[in-house]
Amino acid sequence: MNTVDFDRYDRVRPIRWTGESLELLDQRVLPFETFYRDLRSYEAVADAIRDLVVRGAPAIGISAAWGVVLAARAIDAATGAEALEHLQPAFDRLNRSRPTAVNLAWALNRMRAVLPQAGANWRTALEAEAHAIATEDLAANRAMGVAGAALMDVGSGVLTHCNTGSLATAGFGTALGVIRAGVAEGRIQQVFAGETRPWNQGARLTVWELQEDGIHATLIADAAAAHLMKTGQVQWVVVGADRICANGDTANKIGTYQLAISARHHGVKVMVVAPSSTVDMQTASGDLIEIEERDPRELLHAVGQRTVAEGVVAWNPVFDVTPHALIDAIVTERGVILEPDEKKMRATFK
Ligand code: MRU
Repeated sequence: MNTVDFDRYDRVRPIRWTGESLELLDQRVLPFETFYRDLRSYEAVADAIRDLVVRGAPAIGISAAWGVVLAARAIDAATGAEALEHLQPAFDRLNRSRPTAVNLAWALNRMRAVLPQAGANWRTALEAEAHAIATEDLAANRAMGVAGAALMDVGSGVLTHCNTGSLATAGFGTALGVIRAGVAEGRIQQVFAGETRPWNQGARLTVWELQEDGIHATLIADAAAAHLMKTGQVQWVVVGADRICANGDTANKIGTYQLAISARHHGVKVMVVAPSSTVDMQTASGDLIEIEERDPRELLHAVGQRTVAEGVVAWNPVFDVTPHALIDAIVTERGVILEPDEKKMRATFK
């Protein structure tokens, strides 16, 4: 088996901290424009998360952490404990920017937790914590990549959904990290990506990101997934997650649930790849997850043009929940959980 050269297959970076500002690669205009937005306030960061300038659960959390660092610039406080009070509006606003990915609240909790002990050096402590969140995410992704790829036989075909790559994380990606590692090791022979309507993360982001890194991938319409499985070309559906509950139920991009149902019907396995920052042991099951609903215009328009008759109503939930019984493996940096259930989740995540 080849070893994984992590840098060779991982060139795109969505989040850059300059020391003065947060630069976010504007994912709304990819793949034809590569444009970093320069953000200097937490309000701008919250808006960028809400408007999908940056998206993907880990990337949202990392951006929010830098949003707190920016908020710290605008307040006067002698100690971390004093700063905590002044920063509350920033924590609240950032936390509200998107509801489903638990990484957002997780990152903000980490930022909050450094303040009481930080004393006079609280600004430095916040910046160090934001750096640590990003660095740990990259390390987790590399570890998960190798662990997830190890589950696959040589010659496998995979189907992925949404974008779970470097664009959605500090780098390397979660499900896309497994695909990067699997390709590098020579286990994965074919990669398919669903277009991921309505925002087209698969079509606009995933296949572009893989192309940048020299990994061949084939785009399919979301509606072609079951047919693809029937042809025998894929052995694994590999996806990320926005929240994994205590019983292993997993929220991810809308369409993941129907992929998991089709996969079970066709004997294709389902792998969910996510760092421990996506695990929410406080939420017992998927029924309790808030599912974000976005503007129906995402369905009624394409590239700024209305494509549906005036007066038509659309419903636009952007995540769904895959029950744990349809998941064959949850891969985290803390270990691989096969056929996940509450008991196995609790053994890994106390
Ligand atoms: O709406 P998005 O693009 O933020 O949704 C992203 C997903 O659903 C991803 O699969 C998930 O966040 C994991 S990203 C590593």
